Amino acid sequence: MPRLYDSCKRILVTGGAGFLGSHLVDRLLKQGHEVLCVDNLFTGTKRNIEHLHGHARFEFMRHDVTFPLFVEVDEIYNLACRASPIHYQHDPVQTTKTSVHGAINMLGLAKRLKCRILQASTSEVYGDPAVHPQTEDYWGHVNPIGPRSCYDEGKRCAETLFFDYHHQLGLEIKVARIFNTYGPRMHPADGRVVSNFIVQALKNAPITLYGDGEQTRSFCYVDDLIDGLIRLMDSPAAFTGPVNLGNPGEFTMRELAELILAETGSASPIVTLPLPQDDPRQRQPDISLAKARLGWAPRIALREGLKPTADYFRTLLAGNVAAEGGRSSYFPAQN
Ligand SMILES: NC(=O)c1ccc[n+]([C@@H]2O[C@H](COP(=O)([O-])OP(=O)(O)OC[C@H]3O[C@@H](n4cnc5c(N)ncnc54)[C@H](O)[C@@H]3O)[C@@H](O)[C@H]2O)c1
Repeated sequence: MPRLYDSCKRILVTGGAGFLGSHLVDRLLKQGHEVLCVDNLFTGTKRNIEHLHGHARFEFMRHDVTFPLFVEVDEIYNLACRASPIHYQHDPVQTTKTSVHGAINMLGLAKRLKCRILQASTSEVYGDPAVHPQTEDYWGHVNPIGPRSCYDEGKRCAETLFFDYHHQLGLEIKVARIFNTYGPRMHPADGRVVSNFIVQALKNAPITLYGDGEQTRSFCYVDDLIDGLIRLMDSPAAFTGPVNLGNPGEFTMRELAELILAETGSASPIVTLPLPQDDPRQRQPDISLAKARLGWAPRIALREGLKPTADYFRTLLAGNVAAEGGRSSYFPAQN
């Protein structure tokens, strides 16, 4: 139900204490909205939202999205889901449940409130892709029974649910397919390549490169990604996505390691390990649709974004991050 007196919106962010969620919460508060952050703190942490303690328009609720939620809001961003392989493979059944039951519960809430809902989907829905770069009409190449399937198939099923609620019940949905994103507040032990390499470099430990290091990834800085999510949420109702959000710049893992060594001034050696099962060789977004429909493209180059990210981990390793809050605002916001 729309509010009677205020022009600001009440916005629910599930997974709001996580890496992306906490930056989204910051940005929505900066825009003047009220934010309800719902998180079970499985991979997220209170440290990511500690700086918001006492903020008049911010509220935190510890809740697991696999259970129904009854709140009153005007918009929902559904980000709750463990996102790194180490975390989602720790309890694969719970990972699928979070994607699928979580989507059903949040879609049910959106249906009751007749409000708009955005799903944080992933480039993993393309699996180990046979086409490069990936466009949204590519259906993917996914192993349904491998170690990554709980995440990939869970996210694919969530997309299906979003589109079925849209077609069958007329719900206003938005689906973002997020590609590798990095920045301050990434979990230091989540095994994702950027955080892994930076932490290893800062500790002068060996940088662990999987396979020959020639597999490529593209990396989007968190500020750019948050701009894309908000633009998508605010786009005309007829535009549902799915839409790719990511940085098309492609780097080999070896190039990334070298950039991080240069940024941190580390003396770490580079060592190679066997490639994990189902690890894609290449992943690169085609962002033509986001450019055309959202007027969005990333602005922050990898070299630029690595600096605040390395600074965050330096502070974290020194045990000081709570005071600093891990803000990413080295760059002015796009909107
Ligand atoms: N970071 C990326 O590069 C990336 C890429 C593609 C998609 N995504 C998607 O974006 C979203 C956020 O990812 P992130 O990188 O911030 O990961 P993250 O692990 O930092 O954040 C996920 C948050 O969800 C919470 N959560 C997990 N299960 C929950 C549950 N059952 N109930 C309530 N809260 C729960 C966690 O505690 C955490 O705070 C995820 O849905 C992820 O799949 C992220």
